Amino acid sequence: MAKDLTKQQDSDTLSTTQVLEEGVHHVNNPVLDLPEIVKNYLGPVTGYHQENNNYYFTDGGASVEVKVVSDEIIRVRLAPKGQFLEDFSYAVPQSDQHVAVYNFEEDQQAYRVKTNTVTCVIRKADFLIAFEDREGKEYNKDYSPMHWEENPDFGGYYVYCTKAAQANEAFYGLGDKPTNLNIRGKRFVNWNSDTYSFQFNQDPLYRSIPFYIGLHEGDAYGIFFDNTFKTYFDFAAEAHDQTSFWSEGGELQYYYIHGPHMMDVVKRYHSITGTHYLPPLWALGYHQCRWSYYPESKVRDLARNFRERNIPCDAIYLDIDYMDGYRCFTWNKRYFPDPKKMIKDLADDGFHTVVIIDPGIKVDENYWVFKEGKKNRYFCRRGDDYFMEGYVWPGRCQFPDFTNQEVREWWGGLFKGLVEAGVAGVWNDMNEPAVFGRGTFPNDVRHNFDGYRGSHRKAHNVYGMQMVRATYEGLKTLFQKKRPFTITRAAYAGTQRYASVWTGDNVATWEHLRLGALQLQRLSVSGMPFCGTDIGGFSGEPDAELFTRWIQFGVFSPFMRAHSAGDTAEREPWSFGPEHEALNRKFIELRYKLLPYIYSVFWEHSKYGFPILRPLTMVEQRLESNIPREEEFCFGDKLLVSPVLSPGQQHKTVYLPAGDWYYYWNDSRFEGGKEHEVKTPMDEMPIFVKAGTVLPEYPVMQHVYEKKIESLKLLVYHAVQETNSYMYEDHGDTFAYEQQIYLEKRFVVKGTSNSLKIKQFVDGLYSERYDTYDLHLVSLPFNVKRIVVDDKPAVAKQDSQGRYVVTVPKDFKNIIVT
Ligand code: GLC
Repeated sequence: MAKDLTKQQDSDTLSTTQVLEEGVHHVNNPVLDLPEIVKNYLGPVTGYHQENNNYYFTDGGASVEVKVVSDEIIRVRLAPKGQFLEDFSYAVPQSDQHVAVYNFEEDQQAYRVKTNTVTCVIRKADFLIAFEDREGKEYNKDYSPMHWEENPDFGGYYVYCTKAAQANEAFYGLGDKPTNLNIRGKRFVNWNSDTYSFQFNQDPLYRSIPFYIGLHEGDAYGIFFDNTFKTYFDFAAEAHDQTSFWSEGGELQYYYIHGPHMMDVVKRYHSITGTHYLPPLWALGYHQCRWSYYPESKVRDLARNFRERNIPCDAIYLDIDYMDGYRCFTWNKRYFPDPKKMIKDLADDGFHTVVIIDPGIKVDENYWVFKEGKKNRYFCRRGDDYFMEGYVWPGRCQFPDFTNQEVREWWGGLFKGLVEAGVAGVWNDMNEPAVFGRGTFPNDVRHNFDGYRGSHRKAHNVYGMQMVRATYEGLKTLFQKKRPFTITRAAYAGTQRYASVWTGDNVATWEHLRLGALQLQRLSVSGMPFCGTDIGGFSGEPDAELFTRWIQFGVFSPFMRAHSAGDTAEREPWSFGPEHEALNRKFIELRYKLLPYIYSVFWEHSKYGFPILRPLTMVEQRLESNIPREEEFCFGDKLLVSPVLSPGQQHKTVYLPAGDWYYYWNDSRFEGGKEHEVKTPMDEMPIFVKAGTVLPEYPVMQHVYEKKIESLKLLVYHAVQETNSYMYEDHGDTFAYEQQIYLEKRFVVKGTSNSLKIKQFVDGLYSERYDTYDLHLVSLPFNVKRIVVDDKPAVAKQDSQGRYVVTVPKDFKNIIVT
């Protein structure tokens, strides 16, 4: 009966693309008649033609497109029967960049498509494709010609690309795979999966980011396999000299992204898939979450505790219990009789309220969201036209097809009530999509795919991305001038344009803390910069030491949120007794002090596409000895941290990249290019500041807008080598920065054994929240006799740490200390 009620007719016709992908010729089923699965390889090249910056090569049957996307990026596509699929991608909104010059050469052996930086060589005899730099150094080449086989499941193709893996080549990327940073010797599959309490080496997890970086002899390149079907990667696992990627459907389409610097590979990957928008400043503060804080009195208690105990916090989360029977966009009025008033009171006290939303909409004829979705045919349907139904938190549910623009607009608008109630951010969960019992949707579920229709095989990995896109776009419209904050569990490449991510349901163990450090570094080099773990571990019980060490790591996680499952003991920064409360406070305060630096690093990401966390290999990619150093990383380019990831650890070996470094806690100078043994008592974790840095610090605040800053503290670290530091400032939560209403400051520091010069260059239109700087001159190798600020003498005092402190106008240009 239920099925009859939900059945609807679909009169849409199928496109050619869909016929190719979905094998609609199943009707006559030639595929099933094949005696065995045969792999077809490209044969010798028989000809080519050019259309604008696309070159087409053929072996007489199949066609290969080589497209110059930019000087450093080349896209390759394969059409096994000569017919390309529509050029549509959720990851790459616009694949045409400005290309200055490119040219084409042909000789006896090969064709060459050349930009200023890269040459794509297509060998005539065997159709092998290689990528070289200007000097002819080969970065990446095919091991065998691209190949495909008829997909017996639906008549499309399995598509394969096998590259040569060079001896000693290391591989990075692929999103949140819970394994070592270098993924050489491993195989992976991308299929977004709800993986509660996942384990080391478990695969797949929640996200699919089919992008990797190869690093060989210090030179790096990237490959982005833009295919949303279930994809596979083998990094010299089956055969030591081959790296393969393949897919169960769709098109063999990949981008070669040139380096040679890993930082540039990531930056260029972002140039096609987009960067994370600049988050509101408050989203970079500390967030407190739990499944769940309810009723209202509990939430108010939580907030009061933070303020009474002076532990900074900017966001409180409401997990699924705030809803009425887990119906999205509703409130449980018994627990939250007046949400607007509660959220307003929290906001007056400096807390932002973030609520969870799931994709499953309860089948309930008296529930307006279900009724609207049903009436407008917004829910996903199976191949036979029945609605896709599955059980999630509310019981029997149907699921919006977020790959439909109209559905996304509807979904975005549903947030109106929550936004009017004052909600500041939305947490998008269960969007792999997760379904109790069966895991996810069956493959025959149909999706609109923005007009390029396809089954769940094609849409599964982008479902969560399109859900959070709908959420983000809806909030952006509803907030008007304010920046939304969104977080998602599932993702596909490009999701960074719409949301931050967390690593899902981890466990309160030391192994998971370490895994978190690896996952966040991996997400960062895979184009997902705003990422975090559930601090403390979602399931299980951390002890005091583990929780504090996780908070310490959290200070240097781009997204800092503590979260725990409902069946665990209370898990707030004060839950482990006064001694650990003080420690946790100290480190959450550190996060708040570092905010102007952290915000500037986010700006660099947003504007230029640089990652926020940088594994040591990325910092010094020419040193093979850095490859196994997985526990330490740089946050931006000025801070190096090595979180403590083992119980009872009293000291830690930390390698510092070349150059001088200062120990954050006591200003002592360390020489880089070698290892150091660093003490790690509970109240310290290894943090080093690069010599020459100007590190801005806010005073400790309980939330980001608590205080007017009278004078901004700038820690100036002496260096002989001229060093630039950047600081970005703006309103913190509006889009005015898109109209240049911001300040980009550049500080240039240069010292000698008896002098220090500091210059400032300011660009932009914003007015700061303070009038002066307090310069703290760290570890000067001389006693100060004179300070001249823009030709006028100034007086310095010494602070408790022996640093010279001088107050200078915020618009100073030139300071000389002798
Ligand atoms: C999922 C989420 C978790 C959340 C829970 C209840 O397990 O991963 O973070 O607390 O659902 O909504």
